[in-house]
Parts: sequence; C-alpha cells; structure tokens
Amino acid sequence: MNITKIIEKKKDNKELNKDEITYAVNAYVMGIISDAQMSSLLMAICINGMNLDETYFLTKAMIESGNVIDLSSIDGIKVDKHSTGGVGDKTSLVCLPIVAACGVNVAKLSGRGLGHTGGTIDKLESIKGFRSDLSEEEFIRQVKSIGIVDAEQTKQIVPADKKMYALRDVTGTTRSVPLIASSIMSKKLAAGADKIVLDVKTGSGALITDFEESMNLAKMMVMLGKMFNKKTIALITDMNEPLGDSIGNSLEVKEAIRTLSGIGNKRLTDLCLTIASYMVSMGKDISLKEAKKQVEDALTSKRALNKFKEFVSYQGGDINQIKESKYSYDILSNQDGYVRDINETMLAMECLSMGSGRINKDDTIKHGVGMIIKKHIGDYVSKGDVLVTVYYDDKKVNDNNVLKSFMLSSTKSEGFPLIYTVIE
Ligand code: URA
Repeated sequence: MNITKIIEKKKDNKELNKDEITYAVNAYVMGIISDAQMSSLLMAICINGMNLDETYFLTKAMIESGNVIDLSSIDGIKVDKHSTGGVGDKTSLVCLPIVAACGVNVAKLSGRGLGHTGGTIDKLESIKGFRSDLSEEEFIRQVKSIGIVDAEQTKQIVPADKKMYALRDVTGTTRSVPLIASSIMSKKLAAGADKIVLDVKTGSGALITDFEESMNLAKMMVMLGKMFNKKTIALITDMNEPLGDSIGNSLEVKEAIRTLSGIGNKRLTDLCLTIASYMVSMGKDISLKEAKKQVEDALTSKRALNKFKEFVSYQGGDINQIKESKYSYDILSNQDGYVRDINETMLAMECLSMGSGRINKDDTIKHGVGMIIKKHIGDYVSKGDVLVTVYYDDKKVNDNNVLKSFMLSSTKSEGFPLIYTVIE
C-alpha cells in the first residue's frame, strides 16, 4: 500500500476501500506513516467527507487497533451514554446514578476536557481521592458489585483514536462528521456495552454548530451502531447556552449533587431525566413512559443520590471533600434588559484561561475554578444585578468579555428548545 496514493485518492474525492482505510489506521498507529501524512489524509476527509461504508471501515479499523472490553460475564443489559461535548455539560454525572438506581447496569468510559468543552473524568477528579484509572478487572468487578462504573479510557482501548484525536486537535480537523462519528463510536463499541444513548449537541457552543450537520452526525452514529449490532439512539439537544448554572469541574460536580437532590436547574434536570428514561427503557426493554416513571421515582426518593455517593466512594472519592477555588467575586450587569442570548463559548474560554481545562496537553487543571451563571436566557436583568460569580485561584477573568457574553434586549426571548429530535 502507498499512503501517498491513498491521500491523493481522497483529495480527488474518491471513495476509499476497506484495505486502504485499514492500512492507513494501522500504519499510523505503528509509526510507519508520519503525522504529516496522517494530517493530510484527515484534512482530505474533512473537506471531501466519507460515506457510510468508508466510515464503517474506519470505525472498525480503529476498534481493532486495541482491546474490546468483554462485559458478557455481567448479567443483564449494559447501557452506555455519550455526549458530543458542550459547555457546562454534566449530564453523565446525573444520568448514570439515576439509571443505575433503576436497576440498569451502567458501564462507561469517559474522557477529559477537549478545547473549551469539559470532560467527565476531570469533573470527577475534583472529588478528593477519586480514582479513574481502573483496570479492566476492576471495571467489570465494580459493575457486578454496584451496577455503575465510570473510568478513564485506558491506553489499550482504541489507541488509534488517542493518536488521531491528538493530531486532529492541532491540525484543524476536529469538525468532521465521519471523523467525529468514528472517534466516538469506536470508543463506545470497544467499551462493550449492549446499548448506547448518544447526546448530540447542536448550537453555538457545540463542536458541530449547524443543525443539519448535527442531524447527519446523529444519523451516521445510529447507523454505525446498527452495522455493529448495538442498538443506538441519538438525541439532538441544544447547546446555545451553558447547560445548567455552572461551568468548571468542581462547581459542576456540586451542581450535579444539587440536581440529584432535586433542587437543580430545570433545563439540566429535564434533559437528564429524558436521557435517563431512554437508557432505562432500552436497558429494561420497557416503554419510555414506564421508564420515565421509574426514573422520576429514583430521583425524588433520593435513591439516585445515594447511588452517586456509593459510586464515588467505591472509586475512592470523598463526597464531602470537593476541591474549591481560593477566591470568588461577582460580575454585575451594566445595563437593564432581558437576556436574549449567552455566548457560552466565550464564557468557557474565560474559564479555560483561569485553568478549568488544558490549553496545552500537559497543563495541570485547577479543579475549583469556574463560574456560576445567575441569569439565563429569558430572565430580566437590572443594572447592578449579579450576572455571574467567578471562582478563581490566581488569575481572574476578563470581566468585559463576560459582560459581552450576555446579550440583552428590551423584549423577552423565548429561548431555545431543549431537545430538537430523537433519531432511533
Ligand atoms: N468526542 C470524541 O470522542 N471524538 C470526537 O471526534 C469529538 C468529540
């Protein structure tokens, strides 16, 4: 095989075959082809796309670059969920214990923050003592014992994605439907769950901002699930404003605990209940209506909250010791009006600048930093009202950027729907 010919073929917008795709992935993992060659191929894919067959072969080659976790020794259906990433997206922290409290096994591998979007593992590690580096044996033992686990993807799971994602991150090749679909689905399929619920974010703060393209991504991932014999559904959900009240690792863990205590932000609670209902419906093979009843009961009875505490403590964390920032201060509105829009990407970038995520791969995260958003789309703001409370350690945010992120108008905005559609 000749990698130059493969790159030129995709550059000429021709369909690649299974052997060409498999060769490119394997040769890259083995170091036979260079970063320059792979990034050239990735850019050609970004520009000319890939059809479903090509994306299937890419996903398959990526899965086969590493191990597949065998969960067959665990009784019952195992369900997994994944979000394509957003600002303030702490749904996994809330959904997983709800689903486990309903008696459905949850086996999840999660990632760390990417760019301006956060990652579940970084969030969980803001709980002192929490261990995310579980071995495969520990992972399986925990599901058998308490019905819920969330650990970091190991080096043996889809090594091709680890290497390709790092390259995509620095070569402007993240925003591509076939590349995102194969990256996410290879990890989900290798993690071994029987059924998968995907939360595909759309809107200004999402990786894919355009609605039609988000639909294409969702459809492609659902089709890939089907081709690999794993029932997969995708919800297309809004990411035009931060999800919930907080951005930043430990603030989001605290918000998840408030939500599990029944006193969370309504939009976040509604989304978590919906995703959890789909997971329970698929896990127990019951109607969505019956699943919703069970999910609401798990939340109101506090069984989900107790399951979260059990899960955290099983992985070594102490729920009473969540890392905190050193200082905080309020940013006040300098005008009156209804909040019409919030630039959540700008807010997330400000959080990133305080250390909530990594700008360079090896940066150390400051778990306590971030912001709590006090006004949401549709709320009325008077001059002098608190828009956000900033939590910081050494570096504050640019207050002006935060003020500019809130667009006010004299008329009340309806805001954005929470869930646009579900692809089954
Ligand atoms: N999340 C992933 O795991 N991969 C992508 O390509 C994008 C989001």
